[in-house]
Amino acid sequence: MKITVSALYKAKSQGHRFSVVSCYDYTSAKLAVSAGVDALLVGDSAAQFLLGFDSTLPITMDFMLAITAAVNRAGFEKLIIADLPYESCRSGPEQMIKDSKRFIEEAGADIVKIETSAEQFDEVKAVIDSGVSVMPHIGIRPQTGQYKAEGTTAEIAAVLIKLAAQTYKAGADMLLLEGLAREVAKIITQRFPIPVISCGAGADCDGQVLVLPDILKLTDCPVPKFSKNFADIGKASIDAIAEYDRQIKQGAFPDDAHCYHMKAGEFEKLLKLIG
Ligand code: KIV
Repeated sequence: MKITVSALYKAKSQGHRFSVVSCYDYTSAKLAVSAGVDALLVGDSAAQFLLGFDSTLPITMDFMLAITAAVNRAGFEKLIIADLPYESCRSGPEQMIKDSKRFIEEAGADIVKIETSAEQFDEVKAVIDSGVSVMPHIGIRPQTGQYKAEGTTAEIAAVLIKLAAQTYKAGADMLLLEGLAREVAKIITQRFPIPVISCGAGADCDGQVLVLPDILKLTDCPVPKFSKNFADIGKASIDAIAEYDRQIKQGAFPDDAHCYHMKAGEFEKLLKLIG
């Protein structure tokens, strides 16, 4: 059965946690679906993990649409969260509305995540008012290039709680809190009935998200304090590719079991044909 925002509201009201994986393509989304996660986030961190840029900024809306559609083809029964890229967020509310609607109508997303600060609140509200389901992303916002823990002082924490309240009152359907002090994330999660996802904001939120390359340890990059490698698939992948390389160079692959043959009698016919 399709997982909807309402299903996650219900999960929250019953005290059930849910899991979200940030992934960027059909094959990895299939893995996450088979593992039983509840939601798939197509994060703009694809700029770094998929395209090799050193920030999330260069990724384009067209690219995000293509990979969101790919993830949706694998996981249409899961909640599909699309990440509004910097290209769109810097282009004003009309473009943000247009692009958010494209995520829903063209790529099959259920909800659009938008990095939100007090300064950007009006633009995010405009997207909500346009009828799109929105998940404001509060705290560490990678599109600013700053990755320092947020809400670690009372003053800043109060500002973030106020922003969460504003977005909730404006009609946000869910919230994502990144790198927030756990105490602050707990207050926000308890204060509002909407499902709250933590990305490094502690265990008291309703759901958790990590990027798949961290979960699987696909790269050598050290993970942030809040993240965790649950396996070393990077090492297993390198070993498998090295074995492939070795077998080719030693002539062990492909063996006869891994190739096609002509039908019986056809080879002799061919020899006559070509002389
Ligand atoms: O881009 C991303 O993958 C994200 C999450 C990790 C929150 O924004």
